[in-house]
Amino acid sequence: MTTVDTEPTFDFHGATFDFERTEDRELVQFILSQALYGEATGVFCGKSLYAARNLEAARFYLKQARQELNHLELFAEVFRILEITPLPAHWAIRLLASHNNYYPLKVLMEHAIGEGMVLDIFKDVLLQTLPDSDPRIPEIKKKLRVVCREEVEHVAWGEKETLLLLAERPWLKWPFYGLVELQLLIAPMAVKPFANPSHPVLSHLPRFVAHVRNRVWKQGQQLGFIPAERPALPTRLFAMAFGIALFLRSQFARSRSAIDRNYLSELGFSA
Ligand SMILES: [Fe+2]
Ligand SMILES: [Fe+2]
Repeated sequence: MTTVDTEPTFDFHGATFDFERTEDRELVQFILSQALYGEATGVFCGKSLYAARNLEAARFYLKQARQELNHLELFAEVFRILEITPLPAHWAIRLLASHNNYYPLKVLMEHAIGEGMVLDIFKDVLLQTLPDSDPRIPEIKKKLRVVCREEVEHVAWGEKETLLLLAERPWLKWPFYGLVELQLLIAPMAVKPFANPSHPVLSHLPRFVAHVRNRVWKQGQQLGFIPAERPALPTRLFAMAFGIALFLRSQFARSRSAIDRNYLSELGFSA
């Protein structure tokens, strides 16, 4: 199953940034800087090779690591084309993109949810709001569409792995749910300072934040770890505490390897 595709799901009603304005150039510089940081940490998916459950998973992470490295270089190219310099990443983005050694959390937080939100920014924000009137933009959008197609595959993989992990360990649904509640609290903080009702693009920001929240919520429900009705506060707090405990533990945990135990059957030498 996959809950995302490359088609935009949010409408900015034709609003675009204006590169003649310093404020807009700085906003684009900010957004692209977060994307560049996200792609730099995306390369760490290569670390999931160690935890890969089988050769199919190993092949996927190998391919993904190569793609993320390409995305990183491609965004660097966008900076050069637009003649802007990358800024340091926002603290919320650093937190959301922090590497996780515990495979189930890496799969959920980075691949299924994290890359899903990255895709929202690429296809819904960048592809719509970068101004085609600038002769440099069509070429940049061509590159971005390639990135979007690959990110869709990464999210689909994350969702497939999340479903397998939940089937193996149903208790994971509680920390997963709690962590998504927390991710949805933290993510809007990266865009909060930019709320500006009189700016053509930024005036859509509150609606966009609500849109991402709803999409992630539905994604979690389709994956089976977000309840149909949002639970009462005590249950939410329990799930968040469980999620934080697992996240903290994951900072010291080591993934378990699998291929050294199943390579013979994977290669067809034994049952
Ligand atoms: Fe990427
Ligand atoms: Fe990705």
